[in-house]
Amino acid sequence: MIKFLIFAVIAYIFGSLPCGVWLGKGVKNIDIREYGSKNSGATNAYRILGPKYGIMVLILDALKGYIPLYIASLFDIGGIYIILLGLVAILGHTFSFFLQFKGGKGVATSLGVFLFLMPKVVGVLVLVFILVVGISKYISLGSVICAGLLPILAYFMPVRDDATRLPLVVISLIVGIFVIYKHKANIQRLMEGKENKFNLK
Ligand code: G3P
Repeated sequence: MIKFLIFAVIAYIFGSLPCGVWLGKGVKNIDIREYGSKNSGATNAYRILGPKYGIMVLILDALKGYIPLYIASLFDIGGIYIILLGLVAILGHTFSFFLQFKGGKGVATSLGVFLFLMPKVVGVLVLVFILVVGISKYISLGSVICAGLLPILAYFMPVRDDATRLPLVVISLIVGIFVIYKHKANIQRLMEGKENKFNLK
């Protein structure tokens, strides 16, 4: 239990690291939360800082989910505990210690977490995401559709540890609903035809 709590703190700190905000301040001396969608995540970093830094934030934010789980697995943490650590990392990203308990919408960090827990599901979701964004040009639409598909694919597809499928489906459902909830402003804009279209540049 103590071991789990130590790793929960580590996962939260990892998740909390506001890569987009720090990178924006570091390279262009701007706070990306004051521009574009005002989000601290990779999409807004791409929009405001440009492709190079946007992709960097995407990778870093995904690693914030993947690395703590990977390290925990080296210390024999598995089963439901490693799934809970994933949830903690995602919550760290959305309620960051470094941003007065505010943060991103959870997509990139969830990508890293679920890449560790169920890589095949993530593989399918990445393809769906590329397809949806490629056709619609809306990143948020791709995120919301993938969030909705997450628990369904977790139920039907192979996962890393089949013995933990039920908790994995439950956590996927919670994360899916949470990510969709965090996109409520995007959904509103999508319905009004006012959402920002993705520009590859
Ligand atoms: O992952 C967030 C993305 O789906 C939407 O980002 O900046 O357009 O609100 P943004």
